[in-house]
Amino acid sequence: MFQPTVARSIRALPTRPVALAVVSRPVLSSSLRPLSYTAIRANKKDDPKKDPLLAATTKAPEGASGEHEGRFARTDESVHIPYPPDSEMPAQPIVQGRGGMHFKRTLAQFSLENKVSMVTGGARGLGLVMAQGLVASGSDLAIVDLNKEEAEEQAHKLIEQFRKENPGLEEMPNVTAHYADVADPDSVNKALDECLAKHGQIDNLVTSAGFTENFEAISYPFDRMQKLWGVNVDGTYLFATGVAKHLMERNASGSIVMIGSMSGSIVNVPQPQAPYNAAKAAVRHLAASLAVEWAGHDIRVNCISPGYMLTALTRKILDENPQLRDKWTSLIPVGKMGTPEDLMGAVTFLLSDASKYITGADLRVDGGYTLT
Ligand SMILES: NC(=O)c1ccc[n+]([C@@H]2O[C@H](COP(=O)([O-])OP(=O)(O)OC[C@H]3O[C@@H](n4cnc5c(N)ncnc54)[C@H](O)[C@@H]3O)[C@@H](O)[C@H]2O)c1
Repeated sequence: MFQPTVARSIRALPTRPVALAVVSRPVLSSSLRPLSYTAIRANKKDDPKKDPLLAATTKAPEGASGEHEGRFARTDESVHIPYPPDSEMPAQPIVQGRGGMHFKRTLAQFSLENKVSMVTGGARGLGLVMAQGLVASGSDLAIVDLNKEEAEEQAHKLIEQFRKENPGLEEMPNVTAHYADVADPDSVNKALDECLAKHGQIDNLVTSAGFTENFEAISYPFDRMQKLWGVNVDGTYLFATGVAKHLMERNASGSIVMIGSMSGSIVNVPQPQAPYNAAKAAVRHLAASLAVEWAGHDIRVNCISPGYMLTALTRKILDENPQLRDKWTSLIPVGKMGTPEDLMGAVTFLLSDASKYITGADLRVDGGYTLT
């Protein structure tokens, strides 16, 4: 059987007292090599060519291979993109013409009929379009958002769109809108109570409330960093535990999908966003941890990690920072950003019985970004 090299060299060493005597000698005998050897590094001010480690690597002298050395794989501290105030947020258009009931054969287990799904951050962006996918798949819906007015308006639009796409259907889905600040436990409990009063039950949860901002780490405003972790991490935790508690009290099965990000597994460039990346890594592992904790209660918890998606907000950011669009798409193997619609099937799959043996998974919907 093979043994690791280090283990073999340890076995070959003489017994302990002799070995100590040998190690303390300045010159080692050729028959006994040290377990490790660290070369002395040159000072920063010294000629790097005299550094034995640098000399042994391919590091070229500064500027020798052009001014782009390493640049495409680094963050750029000059990129500052704060999350805009609510008044500057563009509305997300709902998907037109592709949500109707169809008569193409598919597995019945993808259906969400007789379920109530709750989507946090469902007034805009990915949350809104995923919510639309759930309604199209048969679910009733509770939209939860900081912006209740927008949530109400979108709930109304979703029903109107559904009616248009499904002429003759008598029973309309029950779609409601609720206020919550997901980072505030009292507000979360209030929203859960309100939703239960309107729907009687909650079977599925999608936690999409979240946001990112770009500041270099050393000057990231501390209060904004806390807010970011509060919404992305605490908010996900509070809603997941609240819904799980309700499911356990009802002795019912359920499915939770947490919206993470590919940033939970890789470091985006060029925009610096260390706190967001760490927050999304936390979301991914929270999903895995709760999946194990609640497996015995028949509550599944999975994570979806989207790549760069073209929402109304990312469109606005890219219009204002066009250089980012080229940089981002150059790093995506499929060569383009995703659309919110690309998440409709993924979230429906993970909430439905089609995935009933899948829990704790991280489904990356990123056009292959994290593969390279
Ligand atoms: N857009 C992308 O490219 C992308 C990529 C990967 C992951 N994500 C993640 O997807 C999720 C949705 O992002 P999006 O692009 O749709 O963002 P968005 O800004 O378009 O929508 C986010 C929604 O969350 C709501 N929200 C924000 N803070 C809240 C709070 N404290 N309480 C309740 N609601 C709150 C907002 O009002 C908004 O309606 C986020 O978690 C984000 O990190 C987005």
